[in-house]
Amino acid sequence: MKKVKKAIIPAAGLGTRFLPATKAMPKEMLPIIDKPTIQYIVEEAVESGIEDIIIVTGKGKRAIEDHFDHAFELEMNLAEKGKIRLLEEVRRSSGVDIHYIRQKEPRGLGHAVWCARRFIGDEPFAVLLGDDIVQSEVPCLKQLIQEYETTGASVIGVQPVPDHETQRYGIIDPKAKQGRLYQVRNFVEKPQPGQAPSNMAIMGRYVLTPDIFRILDLQEEGAGGEIQLTDAIQKLNELEQVYAYHFQGVRYDVGEKLGFILTTLDFALRHQELRGPLLQAMEEFLEKSTLPKVIG
Ligand code: UTP
Repeated sequence: MKKVKKAIIPAAGLGTRFLPATKAMPKEMLPIIDKPTIQYIVEEAVESGIEDIIIVTGKGKRAIEDHFDHAFELEMNLAEKGKIRLLEEVRRSSGVDIHYIRQKEPRGLGHAVWCARRFIGDEPFAVLLGDDIVQSEVPCLKQLIQEYETTGASVIGVQPVPDHETQRYGIIDPKAKQGRLYQVRNFVEKPQPGQAPSNMAIMGRYVLTPDIFRILDLQEEGAGGEIQLTDAIQKLNELEQVYAYHFQGVRYDVGEKLGFILTTLDFALRHQELRGPLLQAMEEFLEKSTLPKVIG
């Protein structure tokens, strides 16, 4: 069985939920505390054993390439000032070999993945989306790769969501379950309210066999007029078994505003230097807040 060594990180979307911040800056560069969200994703891929990463970029995404490049002047300046910890942090982001390909139009996630087909070739590969950051003992992608290594089949990361949120996600219709691994009858992208076959939602981590590319070659537009990866996975599932795996770990939704704010708060409360001052500031804020008066 071929090993999973390559990963695609699609980052060519328009980021409309964060406009106007994302007019000139990629959504993937928005930081949680002091690290862009895409760096968390790259680090997870590397910790999962991925050797080659390709980022699918689009218009206005140059900052991503700059971020993962060497920054000689900055590094020299930090070295001269003896700011070694910061220097190490800055170097960390340029220590991985990353490839880039442009998606000329944002035609959907399925199309973004298809754009990287020549880089992947005839090997199983991973896809990681920057909208979900996962904190776990064993990196989320590594958990999926381990399942791939036992099943030899595509494995999609899922976690439960509240019933009223199922319409925002790709949802699985489970056929059978063994431990945390599901055989799936159907994968449904953004089901109508009340029509979801379960509450297990696809969470931005995939291990796929290269057969998906033959399906994406012909895939037509689906929900939202976009070429949907979930629709292609459903077709793949009709040809060969595709599994879903309920991965362990805490998943943070950084693809929408409230989730982004809550993630920042949670990470700050776990941050050694920030926790104390933040708790104090929050206490003072809640005591002194004039908000109710303003609203009333
Ligand atoms: P999203 O739908 O969350 O990203 O796609 P978006 O379109 O940038 O954001 P909104 O919904 O307008 O706020 C999930 C991932 O797929 C990538 C996005 O960059 C994001 O990381 N994507 C999406 C592409 O690379 N190309 C596309 O055509 C669509």
